[in-house]
Amino acid sequence: MIVNINVPNHIGEIEPYQGGRPIKEVARELNLDESKIVKLASNENPLGVSPRVKKIILKGLKDIERYPDGNGYYLKQAIATKFKLNDKQIILGNGSNDILELVARTFLIPNDEAIFSEHAFAVYELVVKAMGARGVEVKANNFEHDLDAFEKAITSKTKVIFIANPNNPTGTLINKKKLRDFLSAVPKSIIVVLDEAYDEYLDDNLKSEAFSWLEQYPNLLVSRSFSKAHGLAGLRVGYGVTHKSLAEYMNRIRQPFNVNQIAQLAAIESLADDDFIKRSKKINDAGMKQLITGFEKLNIIYIPSYGNFISFKLRDEQASMMYYHHLLKNGVIVRPIANYKMPSYLRVSIGLKDENKIFLEKLACV
Ligand SMILES: Cc1ncc(COP(=O)(O)O)c(C=O)c1O
Repeated sequence: MIVNINVPNHIGEIEPYQGGRPIKEVARELNLDESKIVKLASNENPLGVSPRVKKIILKGLKDIERYPDGNGYYLKQAIATKFKLNDKQIILGNGSNDILELVARTFLIPNDEAIFSEHAFAVYELVVKAMGARGVEVKANNFEHDLDAFEKAITSKTKVIFIANPNNPTGTLINKKKLRDFLSAVPKSIIVVLDEAYDEYLDDNLKSEAFSWLEQYPNLLVSRSFSKAHGLAGLRVGYGVTHKSLAEYMNRIRQPFNVNQIAQLAAIESLADDDFIKRSKKINDAGMKQLITGFEKLNIIYIPSYGNFISFKLRDEQASMMYYHHLLKNGVIVRPIANYKMPSYLRVSIGLKDENKIFLEKLACV
């Protein structure tokens, strides 16, 4: 039967988000032993969930017949205390993707413009298009965000600017001076979203200081995630920090219970578990070195990355798909990134030492 619904053009034009292939799906399709599959496709924490947090999650299960605290009072308090913020500046999200979407839903109307970089995280374009607004993609400069070109792309219709720092899938980082100069140059009527999903992986001297910039730039929104170093991707929790009046507008259209009870408890515990974050960063640093050494031995070009993943180049699109399928058949899931206009590249997340070793071994024998 033909469905006779008139779908708006701006929805019809959206390319759905393509996530990393789930382990179970790959095992089922390729008839592989699930326990032997190495998934390095979604920038998850290979250490899993911190034991401390796991305990809290199990304890929290006894209360799930109740709705969660829709205001996330205790989680906001924990974030505010840790980063010396006012809780009214904080908005909680079902993952930081929810924050990105809330920005679009709160501030964009059809025909507005939102700027982001070529090769930037795919969700920016999705949430902008879903509002019938226009995504303005600024050419990257050797995979890096080109903030001078961003500035030139600003028009009277620009309402939002998305910056990923570090960016996924390129792993590039913008230095603080450049970012600050940019923020100073942007009209205060434009919201600048600074997406810091991977900040925990940065060395101390590179870590963001953007929370301390919020007072000077009331149009700045910083988003953070519990999916990466915190190891809670499956629970879906993230947050944004901005001027309290913007947070208040976003709160008006947020789903009342967008962050579930267990996620709130887990995130609070995780914020207090600095040791786990340190361990995650250490494993990531070591894994990054291991992969880079492996790529260099194989003469494979890669883009130096500040995240928990790295993108590497094959001869062309055909070669990258050949490598992708070869790895998949051998139980290693990585991520093709043709949808990021990088068809000859694959992205691999940093895993545990043995996982990285398996990946490199399989890569070497294509
Ligand atoms: C740059 C960037 N921002 C945001 C996200 C969204 O993460 P989550 O919604 O799990 O917090 C991701 C996830 O891959 C990402 O790479």
